Amino acid sequence: MSDIIEEILMAATKSRIFKNRDILRPDYIPDTLPHRENEIRKLAQILAPILREERPNNVFIYGLTGTGKTAVTLFVLKHIDKKTKELNISFQYSYINCRQSDTPYRILSELASSLGIRVPFTGLATSEVYKRIIRALELKKRLLLIVLDEIDFIIKKHGDDLLYKLVRINDVLKNSKVSLIGITNDVNFVERLDPRIRSSLGEEEIIFSPYNALQLEDILRQRAREAFHDNVLGEGVIELCAAIAAREHGDARRALDLLRVAGELAEREGARRVTIEHVYKARDELERDRVQEVVHTLPLHSKLVLLAILALVKEGKITTTGEVYNTYIKICKSVRIETVTQRRVSDIINELDMLGLVNAKVVSRGRYGKTKIISINLKPDILYDALSRDPRLEPIINNIRG
Ligand SMILES: Nc1ncnc2c1ncn2[C@@H]1O[C@H](COP(=O)(O)OP(=O)(O)O)[C@@H](O)[C@H]1O
Ligand SMILES: [Mg+2]
Repeated sequence: MSDIIEEILMAATKSRIFKNRDILRPDYIPDTLPHRENEIRKLAQILAPILREERPNNVFIYGLTGTGKTAVTLFVLKHIDKKTKELNISFQYSYINCRQSDTPYRILSELASSLGIRVPFTGLATSEVYKRIIRALELKKRLLLIVLDEIDFIIKKHGDDLLYKLVRINDVLKNSKVSLIGITNDVNFVERLDPRIRSSLGEEEIIFSPYNALQLEDILRQRAREAFHDNVLGEGVIELCAAIAAREHGDARRALDLLRVAGELAEREGARRVTIEHVYKARDELERDRVQEVVHTLPLHSKLVLLAILALVKEGKITTTGEVYNTYIKICKSVRIETVTQRRVSDIINELDMLGLVNAKVVSRGRYGKTKIISINLKPDILYDALSRDPRLEPIINNIRG
């Protein structure tokens, strides 16, 4: 008897769809990275002095999300690390993601621990941790490469003091040498960077351009071979995932997420194959998650402005900043919330546009000058659902949604 149960349970643990789902996860680094040969070559050339025990130039890497910056960097470093071990070179690298380690203290303590120094979670001054790092670097000759990924997060929150210290660190070191790789997804951030830091960090620069649909297809196909069982992917599935992601600035992460979620939906339904319908459903599900996450972090008045836009769109009006402002005032009055200025509402509209929640387009109206037209591409229900998670907004939403 127990054999039968055992058999059923065993079958349940095996997926009909996935051979290895983890291969589609964002932190998996594949053995080959199609369409990034030039970037890999360039980075490897820049870092090659490490193999002669020389300090390589600092590198600044930028490009939109999902263009392979993190994957390429870790891929090249993995190979260099292996080579230096074979050659007995005292090299090491420390990879730090500044979105996760988002204070100077955390970054330095991660750096310290990668050098084998133990640092308490809190309690020390940041300058003390820095001193200990210097001491460790002076004690033993080493070549250290620090990778600061998503570096814009730390600078936007805490300014550029830490980065300034790090790019100057070689001035205080006699024994060891340090190089930096800074990576950012925020292309505008590059322009705002202090010129002194920009020139030291950007001794070398590599720009990653977005993938096109055909390149994304290659990337997906290669990952799908290992991730899915044979003949599980229906016709057009890979092409559709690639096309959707290509339309959104060529983000490989988006493409892989779509494929993974489509597979998960197929599996949950007990389907034998993944179809393009699963991909469309996956797109909606991912969009829902993304919108919910973004809306959740909005301040109250941004949510109220978004509601005003939704109300106007529902009436089918072409919406200008002035109209949004008037509707926003009405909404605020109805629930007795104090209002912000029209100027502020106009800024909020721009912020909502940058977050991809609304579209704001400046159009010329001849001799009447310029005006901003605001529209919504997302399904309104997705926005209403996200907004209604805020209990303060519930009565208003019920009113508008009808
Ligand atoms: N050329 C490529 N070949 C295979 N997978 C890739 C390629 N470029 C990106 N990826 C995958 O896409 C996802 C996003 O890439 P990532 O390097 O994290 O992008 P970025 O750091 O630029 O935001 C990761 O899962 C990564 O493995
Ligand atoms: Mg990255």
